[in-house]
Amino acid sequence: MLLLKTVADYEAWRTSGSRKGRTIGFAPTMGALHDGHLELVRMARRAGDTAVVSIFVNPTQFNDPKDLEKYPRTPGRDIELLLSAGCEVLFMPGVEEVYPPGRDLRLQIDFGQLDKVMEGAFRPGHFAGMATVVNRLLDIVRPARLYMGQKDFQQLSIVRDMLRQLKSPIELVMCPTVREADGLAMSSRNMRLTPELRQTAPVIHATLEAASAAFRQQPAATVCENALKRLAEAGLKPEYFELVDGYSLLPVAHWSDASFVVACTAAWAGDVRLIDNLIVKTS
Ligand code: PAJ
Repeated sequence: MLLLKTVADYEAWRTSGSRKGRTIGFAPTMGALHDGHLELVRMARRAGDTAVVSIFVNPTQFNDPKDLEKYPRTPGRDIELLLSAGCEVLFMPGVEEVYPPGRDLRLQIDFGQLDKVMEGAFRPGHFAGMATVVNRLLDIVRPARLYMGQKDFQQLSIVRDMLRQLKSPIELVMCPTVREADGLAMSSRNMRLTPELRQTAPVIHATLEAASAAFRQQPAATVCENALKRLAEAGLKPEYFELVDGYSLLPVAHWSDASFVVACTAAWAGDVRLIDNLIVKTS
C-alpha cells in the first residue's frame, strides 16, 4: 500500500500507469477506522477497482470545535486495517493540501431541503463543509466510483444530489451499514462510549426495527413518538426520530404515502452523538 500525503504525489501516482488501466474506487474517511470503513474498500476491490482511501479529519464540517478536538485519531491502527482489507493507496493530506491558502473552494450548491432537515437542523454548516471536502477530494482523486455508507444516509443523499448537479460521471455506490453483533451501527465515535452506554446504545437499532414493523399499522406520528419515548426511557437523549421519503428526505405520514421510506434518528449517549437509520420500505 502506498501512503501519499500531497496532491502532487497523488497526481504522480495516478498518471504513472502503475494502475495498468484499472479504474479508481474511492472511499473518503476521517480515520479511526472500523469494519464499516473496510467494507467500502472490499466493495471497491470486488468491483475490480484500485482501492483508494483518504483519511482527513475535515475541520470545516465540525459545527462544534469540541467535537473536532475529541474526534478519535488512530493512524497506526488505520494503516494496518487498510493493509489487511486490500487498500492500495492511502491518501493522508494535511489541511493545506486540501485547502490551499488563498483558494476559496467553498461549494455554492443549493441542496434545497436535503441539507436542512434532520442532521442539517441540528448541525448548522455541517453539510456545506462535508460537500465542499468531498468535492475537493473527488477533484484530487478522480475516481470512477465513489463508495459511501448507508450509515450516513443524509450525507449520501446530498452527495448524490451534488454529483447530479455537477453533472459528474462518477458512480456513487452505497454500502449497507455494518453493525456490531448486538445491532449497534459501527462508528468511530463508539470507542468514546462508557461501558454502560455501550450496553445501552443497541437500543437505537432495536427502536428502528420496531418502528419499521409498527409503521405498517400506525401513522408516522405515533411511531415516532413511541420511538422517542423508548430511546429516552433507555437513558439516551434523542434529537429526532423521523420516517422520511428516501429521495426527498421529507416526512412521510402513512405507509402508503411513499415507495421508499427510511427511518432516521440521532441520539446522545452521554456526550457522544450517535446516528443511525433503517430502510423500512423499498419498492
Ligand atoms: P466517516 O465518518 O469516517 O465515514 C467514512 C465513510 O464510511 C462514509 O461513507 C460513511 O457512511 C461510511 N461508514 C461509516 N460507518 C459505517 C458503517 N457502520 N457501515 C458502513 N459504512 C460506514 O463520513 C465521513 O467520514 C465524512 O463526512 C467524509 C465523507 C469523509 C467527509 O469528510
